[in-house]
Amino acid sequence: MADRYLHLTGTAPGRFLARRLGLPQPAPLRRWTLETPRLDGPLLHLTAGNSAITDELAKALAATGLTVDPQAAHPAGIVLDATGVTSARGLAEVHAALHPVVRSQAPGGRIVVIGTPPSSEDHHQAAAQQALEGFVRSLAKETGRGSTAQLVRIPAGAAPGAAESTLRFLLSPRSAYVSGQVIELTTAAPDPVADQDAPLSGRTALVTGAARGIGASVASVLARDGAHVIVLDVPQAQDDLVRTADRLGATALPLDITAPDAAARIAAAAPDGLDVLVHNAGITRDRRLANMPADRWAQVIDVNLDSVLRTTDELLTSGTLNRGGRVVATASIAGIAGNNGQTNYAASKAGVIGLVRSLGPRAAAGHGVTVNAVAPGFIETKMTAAVPLFIREAGRRMNSLSQGGLPVDVAEAVAWFAQPGSAAVNGQVLRVCGQSLLGA
Ligand SMILES: NC(=O)c1ccc[n+]([C@@H]2O[C@H](COP(=O)([O-])OP(=O)(O)OC[C@H]3O[C@@H](n4cnc5c(N)ncnc54)[C@H](O)[C@@H]3O)[C@@H](O)[C@H]2O)c1
Repeated sequence: MADRYLHLTGTAPGRFLARRLGLPQPAPLRRWTLETPRLDGPLLHLTAGNSAITDELAKALAATGLTVDPQAAHPAGIVLDATGVTSARGLAEVHAALHPVVRSQAPGGRIVVIGTPPSSEDHHQAAAQQALEGFVRSLAKETGRGSTAQLVRIPAGAAPGAAESTLRFLLSPRSAYVSGQVIELTTAAPDPVADQDAPLSGRTALVTGAARGIGASVASVLARDGAHVIVLDVPQAQDDLVRTADRLGATALPLDITAPDAAARIAAAAPDGLDVLVHNAGITRDRRLANMPADRWAQVIDVNLDSVLRTTDELLTSGTLNRGGRVVATASIAGIAGNNGQTNYAASKAGVIGLVRSLGPRAAAGHGVTVNAVAPGFIETKMTAAVPLFIREAGRRMNSLSQGGLPVDVAEAVAWFAQPGSAAVNGQVLRVCGQSLLGA
């Protein structure tokens, strides 16, 4: 469904009216296209405190393809290395570094603050590093004009190149609808990427619920990134599924993911194993708990959570998920904030978060596989088009970017998790919600 308000405020009279009436002024977001794959301008690399990773970070920033220019008057990206901030007083350097430059940032810009995990042994360091979280979440609310801000925590002893894929993603148009997020990396070394324009080339990815909506977009972005994609959806959606498959040169697998033999059928469809498994299929059966029959509860838990647990377990233990594999599940901000009439859905999506956090480290240690999740906010799909007008309008505007996201925004986040270079991204839940106020 078209966002007419966003269209209106994209015109000069509309902008004038919105400003005069004090209404939200969403900036059109610039997303990835073949012609404009990068941010439009240079990068500023700043440091607060004594950093031990300056050279390594400079290498990672150079790999983004953006020009690092210390004199940039209107930087498209600003990266502040605050890993060396270890005290409350040291936070003054964060202010001193960013205060003079935030105003001059180009519209649609990116701010990335680099921190390090708060220490359990040094409460001064922990306070200073945790302070960065509140700082970044607030800055993300202030930046405006389609700009975003995030915090990336790099642990001591991180492997060379561990942060590269994350910086590439955050400092690009691909992360247009991600803001106010905290990403904590591990020390794992990235798997090599031969071609950054096709990082998934030679890999096989399976996407569930891919006949339409977010799943179809995920399949399309993974195919763009070079993967051979297997698209899975219920047999009733076969026509749409085959259309998606034909469009992408993908393989269609009509299958209900809750079927007892689902994992075996997936394994049979991927004789060389799977490199990427995206659990996207999801349903809602909304009712308040007092009015909710057991079958509506069970259907949602079965599709959104139990089948995710079952198939992940079976595909891991059978070795169908290749070493270096990536599992990406789909949570929701409803699973973080809760939602009236969605006890079943929110329980299932919160369960996905529990799965990711628990299994991520063990899957990496035992199988060399990472497990992460996206948590979409308000995304413009058939599902949200069916929401009553007033609630839909509120859902669209109640975030720092004052607009709904597009399926491709979720797909780009999935593609970042799926990359071979993202081995250090594990056990993370990334909200793709424009920094929604819900559950923030
Ligand atoms: N649209 C949003 O704003 C939003 C927000 C948060 C989370 N999500 C989540 O993102 C995912 C995709 O959402 P969407 O908006 O594209 O939904 P959608 O309803 O448009 O698509 C979901 C797809 O999953 C398929 N599916 C359902 N049950 C299945 C089963 N048992 N086996 C195989 N396939 C099955 C459906 O046939 C459909 O094609 C879901 O997990 C949803 O909960 C969406």
